[in-house]
Amino acid sequence: MSKETTGNKMWGGRFASGPDAIMEEINASIDFDQVLYAQDIEGSKAHASMLAQQGIISSEDAKQICDGLDTISSEIEAGTFTFSRALEDIHMNVESRLRELIGDAAGRLHTARSRNDQVALDFRMWVRSQTEQAQTNILKLIEALLTKAEEHADTLMPGFTHLQTAQPVTFGHHCLAYVEMLARDYSRMKDAHERMNECPLGSAALAGTGFDIDRHMTSDALGFREPTHNSLDTVSDRDFALEFLSAASICGTHLSRFAEEIVIWSTPQFGFVSLSDKFSTGSSIMPQKKNPDAAELVRGKIGRVNGSLVGLLTVMKGLPLTYSKDMQEDKEGVFDAAETLELCLAAMTGMISDMTINKDAMKLAAGSGYSTATDLADWLVREAGLPFRDAHHVTGTAVALAESESKELAELSLEQFKGIHDSITYGIYDVLTVEASVASRTSFGGTAPLNVRNQIKYWQNRLKNI
Ligand code: ARG
Repeated sequence: MSKETTGNKMWGGRFASGPDAIMEEINASIDFDQVLYAQDIEGSKAHASMLAQQGIISSEDAKQICDGLDTISSEIEAGTFTFSRALEDIHMNVESRLRELIGDAAGRLHTARSRNDQVALDFRMWVRSQTEQAQTNILKLIEALLTKAEEHADTLMPGFTHLQTAQPVTFGHHCLAYVEMLARDYSRMKDAHERMNECPLGSAALAGTGFDIDRHMTSDALGFREPTHNSLDTVSDRDFALEFLSAASICGTHLSRFAEEIVIWSTPQFGFVSLSDKFSTGSSIMPQKKNPDAAELVRGKIGRVNGSLVGLLTVMKGLPLTYSKDMQEDKEGVFDAAETLELCLAAMTGMISDMTINKDAMKLAAGSGYSTATDLADWLVREAGLPFRDAHHVTGTAVALAESESKELAELSLEQFKGIHDSITYGIYDVLTVEASVASRTSFGGTAPLNVRNQIKYWQNRLKNI
């Protein structure tokens, strides 16, 4: 039995006094790292079993350790476990309780291990599961978007640049733009998962260990591809968390752009979409209001995810190898970002599935703002052999004339068109409608409804073996 100390009973051998209250306050991570209890216990069980298999501890001790850890897991899940700040973190809270439960055998668990590889393992396993969770949630949103795209492969809407009407597109095509973004988000999470799927356990404090451990055994038991290759890198590496935060920030940025569009589209001025009662709120003073709060919150909450990324980059920047206590600051931002991303993905999925598309308003807007001017220019190139720059100029003249008479392009008479350029014939009216404009955009990746349908099929097939 180790001698009693007034310091931390897990490491206080050389300490004559306990920590100042402020030291305990700044040092303790148990208030937040208790989230990692399941990973901590799973990692310790794998470690104990490996130690026994290698003959480093006895099988009886390993059995007692594993049974004790199971008891602790049940206690934490039942809410009966008392977390102690004096014990700093989840690792020492668990080990200390294990000692209470099984006595001296508990002290053998930490053989050939350090909290440095332990925390690297726990946190990595937690982040790994979050990359899996994010992939599942991203897929749900992709599926909701594909359903909408299918319903609206022909639904006309204005496509914008500079938030000014540019050319008509279909709403289905717009939905598929987000499918592309989210599919990249999915693959970023998957790539990050693949890269982080190496097991840190056995790197010990920083230099590895002299005990004859089997790192492949623990790596396999914990579902990793292989053990990490360099002990110094392993205990100082938080790339896995940075990659998760980067992928989450990019995904969140996509969500915030769609959220912003929903905010704009649901205004009475646009009226392109109506949000369901389930995903909007009222005003306590203005009875007529229906506010897109969920969309606004998605737009706003992504700020926290981006903040967590910048926060951790800043913590890690300039840290010398290997572990420094700064790295304890790696967790809260990641926990918050993971929760925020999950909530925002679910809110977008719900909002998009439930929102009503006001086809008439979209179509009306699709035809306004001279959105088929490019079609007129293209017609002049194709049918009258004009160079595109000249066609652009002629079309500009036509737009100016229509604007001066408060007309749409299709409302100009043939005489007026001929007055601008005598090669224009009656055929021009075929390309000035929004339907014709959209149907003509058959280039690969273009907005023609036929293309949109093909792209939906492509994604439905890809999702089958993603
Ligand atoms: N609570 C610590 C953390 O989260 C665990 C590692 C402590 N290691 C150490 N050498 N003090 O980073």
